[in-house]
Amino acid sequence: MSFTPENLARAQSVIAQYPDAHSAILPLAHIAQDQDGWLTTEAMAEIADLVGTTPADVQGVCSFYTMYKRRPCGKLVVSVCTNVTCLVVGGPEILEHLNDRYAADDDVFVEEVECLAACGNAPAMQVNYEYHEHLVPEMAAAIVDDYKSGVLQPRGVSGGLK
Ligand code: FES
Repeated sequence: MSFTPENLARAQSVIAQYPDAHSAILPLAHIAQDQDGWLTTEAMAEIADLVGTTPADVQGVCSFYTMYKRRPCGKLVVSVCTNVTCLVVGGPEILEHLNDRYAADDDVFVEEVECLAACGNAPAMQVNYEYHEHLVPEMAAAIVDDYKSGVLQPRGVSGGLK
């Protein structure tokens, strides 16, 4: 991985916003993940070069956050809440349905997550960090299919942080 010329310019612009370049690690990781679909070892090394630190330091920062994916996650990250409120109104059934439906689909990465802070509208999921609420399994799958077909436009896999 190398930043594209456009993303390298964006990265340098982000770095310039901070008095300490080290503070730009997280937004640069978002740019890299949106470009490649996941945060590669090579990307972390390039980020380290750009901010003047070590790849291990970048990995140490990024590994704390689950939003940074350490393996390819396709175009759509589908985060299904199974925490307490969603648990009692069907979250696990949505997760199982989506896991089964997209098990062989490289474009869709289904993950189980903790509370999305949408308990009042449970069960909830996010697609590339866009909220969808009051779901049942078939509705959740229809939403993911709408993203796949282009009816709904997904943000980047980092949630559109540009
Ligand atoms: S428990 Fe699912 S959004 Fe809070």
